Amino acid sequence: MRDNEPHAWTPAEVPDLSGRTVAVTGASRGIGAATAEHLARHGAHVIALSPSRAEARTVTARGGGPGRVDHVECDLARLAQVRDAAERIVGLAAGRLDVLVNNAGVAAAGPAPSPAGHDMHFAVNHLGHFALTGHVLPALLSAPEPRVVNVSSLLHRLGRDPTRRANAGGARLRWAAYCDSKLANLLFTQGLLGWAHAHGLPLRAVAAHPGLVNTTLGSGALRADGHHIQARLLEWAQARWHTPAQAAWTLVRAATDPYVTGGEFFGPGGRWEWSGSPVRVRAARRACDTRGAERLWRLSQQITEHPFPSAPGRPTPRAGAR
Ligand SMILES: NC(=O)c1ccc[n+]([C@@H]2O[C@H](COP(=O)([O-])OP(=O)(O)OC[C@H]3O[C@@H](n4cnc5c(N)ncnc54)[C@H](OP(=O)(O)O)[C@@H]3O)[C@@H](O)[C@H]2O)c1
Repeated sequence: MRDNEPHAWTPAEVPDLSGRTVAVTGASRGIGAATAEHLARHGAHVIALSPSRAEARTVTARGGGPGRVDHVECDLARLAQVRDAAERIVGLAAGRLDVLVNNAGVAAAGPAPSPAGHDMHFAVNHLGHFALTGHVLPALLSAPEPRVVNVSSLLHRLGRDPTRRANAGGARLRWAAYCDSKLANLLFTQGLLGWAHAHGLPLRAVAAHPGLVNTTLGSGALRADGHHIQARLLEWAQARWHTPAQAAWTLVRAATDPYVTGGEFFGPGGRWEWSGSPVRVRAARRACDTRGAERLWRLSQQITEHPFPSAPGRPTPRAGAR
């Protein structure tokens, strides 16, 4: 599964990130919070996104490094809020965003659809991130080496056709819908890369998966819906998985390693990619299907009202920009 690399990547290789701005979604807890902390500790200005105002103080207080941490409230299931959040991000980043880490996610969400009537996994894990990326594009394209990191999962391998989630309301099979959304993260990475190439833009779209991580992903939703036994079983397993702080290095590598090229996929290098140091990994064949990526791209553009322009201008670098 893993490509041969001359040496193992370690956190010691994270460069000094002073002067760089990174936005991280789902930064209120779990892997996103740990990623935001690592990045701030290395000097990055982190813009931490989360859906609730209450989390803002926690995220901001946890920064704990030389880098500044700002908070932006954003429910990714609400496309109008995503547009407003993008404006705030561009403002806080003073027009130049180096990296966007699309990490937020829901799993095992109940049958209630998103406010726009889509399956929640499709809405939050894919559509909200698709729209957010499109709306912050001008700021990304003002950075000298812009990068977008989409966070997928090993479970993308069980995904089928994510577009079937667009008009289906809430999914009855929650884990199937989650797997489809994680496949969508990889197809979006490919679509974004293709779009950037087609327009001669230096945007690097990459993907990462964190392995198996001890967070409340999935178990919280199961518990909220009264599936206590399933929730307890999942929590029992999760308690044995690696910590968010360890898992976050995969995302940090994808976001900061200067040798990363567009389209690469990172995951933990241990047995079955469950844990370990970040390495390049391979995605399932279905995640490399260009037709599937195009189909998802067209549908997402239509639903989110075309945040990716068909003829994007490359902003002239501002004075003093690195
Ligand atoms: N944990 C694992 O084993 C595992 C494995 C493979 C992949 N992943 C991926 O890793 C990423 C992070 O997962 P995690 O385990 O850290 O999950 P987590 O602990 O449940 O955290 C999820 C984050 O997403 C945010 N979020 C949820 N709904 C949102 C919405 N509607 N709008 C905006 N943000 C929303 C949450 O905000 P609130 O705190 O406000 O709810 C939280 O910050 C996900 O993409 C997941 O698919 C995780």
